[in-house]
Amino acid sequence: MALRTIRDVDVQGKRVLMRVDFNVPIEDGKVLDDWRLRATVPTIRYLTERGAKLILMSHLGRPKGKRDEKYSLRPVAQRLSELLGQTVKFADDCIGEVAEKAAAELQPGEVLLLENLRFHEGEEKNDETFAQQLAKLGEIYVNDAFGAAHRAHASVHAITKFLPAYAGLLMEKEVTHLGKLLEAPDKPFVAVLGGAKVSDKIGVIKNLLTKVDALLIGGAMAFTFLKAQGYETGKSLVEEDKLDLAKSLLDEAKEKGVELVLPVDFVVAESDAEDAVTKVVPANAIPADKAGYDIGPETARIYAERIKSAKTVFWNGPMGRFERAPFKAGTKAIAEALAECPGTTVVGGGETAAAAFEFGIADKVTHVSTGGGAALELLEGRELPGVAVLKA
Ligand code: 3PG
Repeated sequence: MALRTIRDVDVQGKRVLMRVDFNVPIEDGKVLDDWRLRATVPTIRYLTERGAKLILMSHLGRPKGKRDEKYSLRPVAQRLSELLGQTVKFADDCIGEVAEKAAAELQPGEVLLLENLRFHEGEEKNDETFAQQLAKLGEIYVNDAFGAAHRAHASVHAITKFLPAYAGLLMEKEVTHLGKLLEAPDKPFVAVLGGAKVSDKIGVIKNLLTKVDALLIGGAMAFTFLKAQGYETGKSLVEEDKLDLAKSLLDEAKEKGVELVLPVDFVVAESDAEDAVTKVVPANAIPADKAGYDIGPETARIYAERIKSAKTVFWNGPMGRFERAPFKAGTKAIAEALAECPGTTVVGGGETAAAAFEFGIADKVTHVSTGGGAALELLEGRELPGVAVLKA
């Protein structure tokens, strides 16, 4: 999908108002994970090097339309200053006198970060008056917040009625990599889907069934598929009300000639505690008093082979409770297989991105998405409101 991008506009001496997704974890005034900031740095540099007066705006958390210091973006300005090697100014509000004065005083090449957009109700309501108040601050609007592109919020959507709108470099990169998975993936195309619930992934599974050659299933959602086929799953997490759905997805895969691959073994334990005593069992022999918390080594080996020989791989969702030491191996094996695959490898955002960083493979794959919900909605085949308004 072609977008209007910042390459199409002259920004010299202009006030550029850019939506970013700086929704990052903060503790005691410190940014714990600055990956989303680093991912936006190329766009920031591109604009400041060309003489833009850059005004950044973002949401942080869900403060529900009210000011709440816990969700202040001030610590982000501090961290971004360090990353850029230049002072990032900070305005205590994103609209009104404070913001307008700070924006007007900016010099070419300078950067200003506005306080959390969600301190105002108008943001999530996609309110036009609020969007107009934001729009007043800039002459050009840029959206680099792929992670928020699935939200029809004022700074993402309504604002484009009041300013000429362009995609930033990160937005362009995300839409290109994720879009290619749906439009023209090199075959064989293998998707690896994990996570706890089938219900969270229905849309993605259905859409990917029309694109992929094989769908490898991991995480607790595998148990819902296995139980739907009559397997005993012990105390493993099963969505009892989704058994029929799982069965119909299995049938749909068969009809379409897509292999829906399920684990052949699991790491089981009585609990998912750090010191849990674990055992590897075949998928058809899960003890009644135990639950599966990771795929087993044989499954990891089979999945890794499929991944390494694919031309395109998309991975979303961990294979097990990888935050806990006894259940890391499955997710780690998948991550390492992606790193070894010579084809196009794309990792969905959220906790899968966290796993990619934890296992040190983030820079060994083609693309790690900064969007969690946004990446999934795009792969469901849905048009993202924040992307639709940037179409060329
Ligand atoms: C995310 O972290 O996925 C985005 O920043 C969107 O946040 P939200 O789910 O609070 O809208």
